[in-house]
Amino acid sequence: MPTHRHVLGLTAALIFALHASSAMTAEKKVWVTMGDTAFQQAQQFVPGLVSAQAQRLAGGTQTIHAVNIGEAQIETVANAIHQRLGQCGGFMVHRTESEARAALRTMPAVGPAPSYAIDNRNLVEPILARMNDKNIEDTIVRLSSFPNRYYKSQSGIDASNWLMAKWAGMAAGRSDIVVKQFTHADYGQKSVMLSIAGSDKAGEAIVLGAHLDSILTSRMNDTAQAPGADDDASGVASLTEALRAMLEQGYTPKRTLHVIAYAAEEVGLRGSQEIARTFKSGGDKVLGVLQLDMTNYKGATNDIYLISDYTDSKQNDFIVQLVSAYLPETTLAYDRCGYACSDHASWQALGFPTSMPFESSFGRDNPNIHTIKDTFANSGGQATHALKFGRLAAAFAVELASD
Ligand code: BES
Ligand code: ZN
Repeated sequence: MPTHRHVLGLTAALIFALHASSAMTAEKKVWVTMGDTAFQQAQQFVPGLVSAQAQRLAGGTQTIHAVNIGEAQIETVANAIHQRLGQCGGFMVHRTESEARAALRTMPAVGPAPSYAIDNRNLVEPILARMNDKNIEDTIVRLSSFPNRYYKSQSGIDASNWLMAKWAGMAAGRSDIVVKQFTHADYGQKSVMLSIAGSDKAGEAIVLGAHLDSILTSRMNDTAQAPGADDDASGVASLTEALRAMLEQGYTPKRTLHVIAYAAEEVGLRGSQEIARTFKSGGDKVLGVLQLDMTNYKGATNDIYLISDYTDSKQNDFIVQLVSAYLPETTLAYDRCGYACSDHASWQALGFPTSMPFESSFGRDNPNIHTIKDTFANSGGQATHALKFGRLAAAFAVELASD
């Protein structure tokens, strides 16, 4: 989130930050990992803040720090970074010190690598042909009509329940599909997970993900308006349309296919970290993970920008092949986030290969995210851009899950 898009002035942010940090000293502390730029800002707002461990990650350009900080202070620091640097903080919240330290180690890739050959055209093409932008539009409009989808608010819980019911309805009559909510210990919003059991290699899995929650950078409370139409109702809607087309086609994967709408992304990738950790500790072989976070605002020349950091380069090469095979009109380029900007980073950190195709170049993304103005109308009032990402997700899933 690199551009200046915030209404509060620096002075207001400082007063808020100082007030918050002195009032919150007795607050519960959490472990967080963050980049050096963010850490230096955080030190200015939280005097005496120290880095318990600092590490340069492979492929990364910044030193990453593990720090122990008050739960309320971290939001203050994130706000301050937005205000002062006009960019996002990019921090991950961890449950324990050892998990924060583990996040600084690059995990070796785990599990068997899938074949990245494009050899399921007969299965992919009819599914793509069934997909349309109108269905994506409907889902974006519905999700963004909740007052907010904040991880701690009632409407954030309601939005999860609504999606659960929608996916369960779509899967009705399929005994090979389980739809469930994943309960998180520390907050009320549940992640939603639809799983189609693999017919042949059920122990190997492919994951499609997007995040369910929304946030306001300025100030969040239970009734604040945080429509999050692009961030990230669009990603959930693109995946829902891919899923609808697969199910309507009667597609049955050979490998298990999970479609996940994560809770609590906006507050440190919390939902996805807990889910990725559950897969890891259960010994699941996850062969490929795709994250869709912001798919409907076309802000740059090319259609799709593949995020090259915190993702898997071989799987990214495969995405390039998928686009040229199945979306020949769609243009693609690479860009970087520069930090762990979305849920793919939770999986990549545990050694699972991930990719994150993004709506624009990093600096030209939707200027309204994390504000009350992140509406469907402000992403162009149509969902044709998001449809490209939905089709890419369907092609990714079917090519990887079918052999
Ligand atoms: N969708 C954004 C990430 C994003 C924004 C990527 C702009 C590229 C351009 C995501 O929901 C988000 O806001 N992430 C946080 C970091 C997260 C670890 C809390 C961010 O970017 O500050
Ligand atoms: Zn966001």
